[in-house]
Amino acid sequence: MKFNVKTDDLHKVKTDLLIIILPLLKYADSKFLTLDRLCDHFISKVAKENQIDGNLGANILLHSIKNVQARSVLLVGGSKNGNCDFDEFKKIMKPCIEQIKDSKNKKVTVQMYQDKSKQEEFVKKCKFILKEFERVTYSYKNQLNKNLIILVDKSSSKLVNKTVKEGLALANGIRLTKNLANRPANLCTPTVLANEAKKLSANNKSIRISVMNETQMKKLKMNTLLSVAQGTTQPAKLITLQYSNGKNNKRPIVLVGKGVTFDSGGISLKPSGGMDEMKYDMAGAATVLGVFSALASMDLNTKVIGIIPATENMPAGNATKPGDVITSMSGKTVEILNTDAEGRLILCDSITYARKFKPEVVIDIATLTGACVVALGNHATGLMSNNEKLAKSLLKSGINSDDRAWQLPLWSEYGSQLKTNFADLANVGGRTAGAITAGYFLSEFAEGLKWAHLDIAGTAWNSGANKLATGRPVALLLDFIINSESK
Ligand code: BES
Ligand code: MN
Ligand code: ZN
Repeated sequence: MKFNVKTDDLHKVKTDLLIIILPLLKYADSKFLTLDRLCDHFISKVAKENQIDGNLGANILLHSIKNVQARSVLLVGGSKNGNCDFDEFKKIMKPCIEQIKDSKNKKVTVQMYQDKSKQEEFVKKCKFILKEFERVTYSYKNQLNKNLIILVDKSSSKLVNKTVKEGLALANGIRLTKNLANRPANLCTPTVLANEAKKLSANNKSIRISVMNETQMKKLKMNTLLSVAQGTTQPAKLITLQYSNGKNNKRPIVLVGKGVTFDSGGISLKPSGGMDEMKYDMAGAATVLGVFSALASMDLNTKVIGIIPATENMPAGNATKPGDVITSMSGKTVEILNTDAEGRLILCDSITYARKFKPEVVIDIATLTGACVVALGNHATGLMSNNEKLAKSLLKSGINSDDRAWQLPLWSEYGSQLKTNFADLANVGGRTAGAITAGYFLSEFAEGLKWAHLDIAGTAWNSGANKLATGRPVALLLDFIINSESK
């Protein structure tokens, strides 16, 4: 998959498919008028006769047009007002982009009109196109060899170049996240994740990396993390990435990604149906790596730290048992009532570890609870936070990037579900409000930090016939990071 930006004239683009969204003919720009004149007004005639112009989403595919280099042209009706808004744009472009799947269309070009008065919309539209193109062309088994060109005006502003660059970085980041998340657990161990992180660092000078082994974690007293790794023969790793363009001394945004490369449940073994999907239990980690790969190709005035606790969760003779009490790195004790609630155990020590970076904010990303899928389905990521401002900006980034989250409360009442006579906290809070009690457990380790938790159990992958990772919430997080640059 390749992306390019070009400023060619419409009739000159050499491409298999050229997608043109019609502004009402009366608003047509000079590029379109030239194209139309060269083909003896064939395009405008077709658009009128077939009621494409100004008819939102109506489209027609034309082939071998006189004096036009593109093999075929897809004319798409835009809004009656000349330029469509973001929601209209999404609606009309989704089916168009599906056409890319056609094997004849190796090289696809989309003409992007830029309404100078609506820059924010333009940014969102460009990123949406790139993201959709990535989605439609994705396959785990055989990566398609396609080329997408975004055609913009010659007078292309700095904004266009920046937007397209960010959009490309986003699409490539999403792709990395998907490839890693889809990889089976035998080929995606904690060691493999660490090696993938090392690759990112080796290829990009703005990224530094360090990997801790179990002995080093033991020294830091990361006992709840190690209690999960106890039953597996795969060595656990704590991966730390750092992004910086070297030009600022800001406090970092810390992203913590759950990296359970396989979650069998441990001694509290999961039922076997659908257990294969627990290879996706490192989707939070894959998200962090995808975000870093995107950051690598952007020059942002921001510091970002990624922390990935990576381990398998397996049953064994020496595995952690229900009822075991462990002292976490923070000093708080935890009674492990269910070894399948392992995500919070590796995350709580990672949040404690994050404090050493004096973070501006800490955001953890985790396939944490089945309960979150019950609550929100596969459409929204569950968001919990101890800081309303942070929660609001994450929600906004979700809307901007078409990668939405929905907030759940963390009222202290929920905390009572985690009480136990044997430790400071139990690792499970009973049958009700499972997504929230998991978030509440984490919040107990985030006191004094600006912290948010993204439960991506429902959004990180699709089940069923089309079982594949989605690359969420890379888009949400990148939008958040880009927006915080100016702050
Ligand atoms: N990784 C799972 C959560 C999960 C389950 C994500 C299904 C996506 C689909 C997590 O480690 C887990 O097992 N959570 C338990 C918690 C329970 C024991 C309190 C769950 O959700 O059942
Ligand atoms: Mn589990
Ligand atoms: Zn898990």
